[in-house]
Amino acid sequence: MRRGEKGILILIAVVVGGMMLRNLWSVLDGGEKDKGIPFYSSLSEAEGRKALRLIHDSRCKDCHSLWGATASMMQNVPAPRLDGIGSIRDEAWFYQYLSSSDPQSILPSRLKKEFRMPSFASLPEADRKELAAYLASLKVKNWYLAETRKSEYEKLTGKAYSP
Ligand code: HEC
Repeated sequence: MRRGEKGILILIAVVVGGMMLRNLWSVLDGGEKDKGIPFYSSLSEAEGRKALRLIHDSRCKDCHSLWGATASMMQNVPAPRLDGIGSIRDEAWFYQYLSSSDPQSILPSRLKKEFRMPSFASLPEADRKELAAYLASLKVKNWYLAETRKSEYEKLTGKAYSP
């Protein structure tokens, strides 16, 4: 082996070894810990089952993502994700929003008409209540809330968020 090659090999070994050490460091140090999935529902699986069926039947996931499900061809609709939404709004608000004949009078939209939140005023009242309760149960852990607020605000308004 020529001297130059040896030098390069040593250099690579040092760089790779250094990276491994750094990783080991952050693990021991507790540095960049995996914070886990930030979303949860405060309702049990059984309690949420009916609402999830309604969400499926009402095709909410055509536009919104929830629990990591990939929405259909409408996935490109810039609708806010529903995970954690109950941390920024309450049940009464959801009920009113779903019941409104004009949801954009409550939450203005800058999207084209066909991409906007449709009115669900024609759903039976019991279903709207069920959905509102479920949406309100969708929580996000605190560390993630700040990020969600910022991105949803910017998505909906197109303006930079300053708390
Ligand atoms: C055609 C696409 C579409 C469908 C279907 C749809 N939404 Fe929406 N939704 C949106 C969009 C887009 C917004 C953002 C407001 C707007 O642009 O009108 C929104 C907003 C919302 C919000 C408010 C989010 C926030 O930031 O506070 C909630 C809650 C919501 N939708 C729930 C639902 C539920 C529940 C269903 C099913 C029953 C549903 N949506 C079906 C497109 C949709």
